[in-house]
Amino acid sequence: MRVVFLGAPGVGKGTQADRITAQFQVAKISTGDLLREAVRNRTTLGLEAKSYMDQGSLVPDAVVIGLVREKLADPSCANGFVLDGFPRTVPQAEALGSVLNSKGIALDRVVNFQVSREDVVRRLSGRRSCPKCQATFHVDFAPPTVEGMCDRCGEPLVQRSDDRRDAIEMRLKVYDEQTAPLVRYYGERKLLFPMDASGAVDAVFRHLAQELAPYQGT
Ligand code: AP5
Repeated sequence: MRVVFLGAPGVGKGTQADRITAQFQVAKISTGDLLREAVRNRTTLGLEAKSYMDQGSLVPDAVVIGLVREKLADPSCANGFVLDGFPRTVPQAEALGSVLNSKGIALDRVVNFQVSREDVVRRLSGRRSCPKCQATFHVDFAPPTVEGMCDRCGEPLVQRSDDRRDAIEMRLKVYDEQTAPLVRYYGERKLLFPMDASGAVDAVFRHLAQELAPYQGT
């Protein structure tokens, strides 16, 4: 299974990528997670990426393409992968195509998650994350058992720095300008699967797992 999860910030790509990769035993490659890890570890890459991420802008293509190329070479991807939040620009999509081509493989599907703008803003502004294990919650839709604390490791939950109102607006603008053209790009290549992601997490997962099941083991 080799799939891309495409969609605006907050549509639920990361939530579903966690579930799909667990269900089908494939690797999750999330450029957002990789960049946040670099920021936490204060690497040179992380220090460069932080200012772009805090504002809600995209990190330069060359940086994320390098990260993904490295991950795709990892043996953990041999059984397949879900790319969550990559590609996000046409040059990133072209670079991905070249990397896969050089390995003699191709994408099976590009899932285009669709949720109204109003719901996206509600999902992002209520999101809380664990700074230790990176688990994600939502104050209304996926609340932790003990308010403000991570169910998995007990750490106090935090709000991502780019989930502030001004950064959310910027991220949505960047999505419209730089990422939305990929809908057409992958549509022309007959890879696009439009996914209504407005339902509850379990309902979205059931529909998605059904759609992706034929690609298990490909
Ligand atoms: P990234 O981390 O990829 O952020 P994003 O694409 O903006 O996506 P999000 O993580 O915000 O949302 P999501 O769709 O995964 O939703 P989630 O499942 O968490 O990127 C962050 C930054 O890194 C970028 O702005 C950029 O700077 C940089 N970056 C990353 N990749 C890059 C690239 N390729 N090129 C350049 N720069 C890059 O869900 C959101 C909330 O909703 C959660 O609270 C969740 O509990 C809740 N929720 C989920 N599903 C449902 C549901 N069905 N019903 C109700 N609530 C739900």
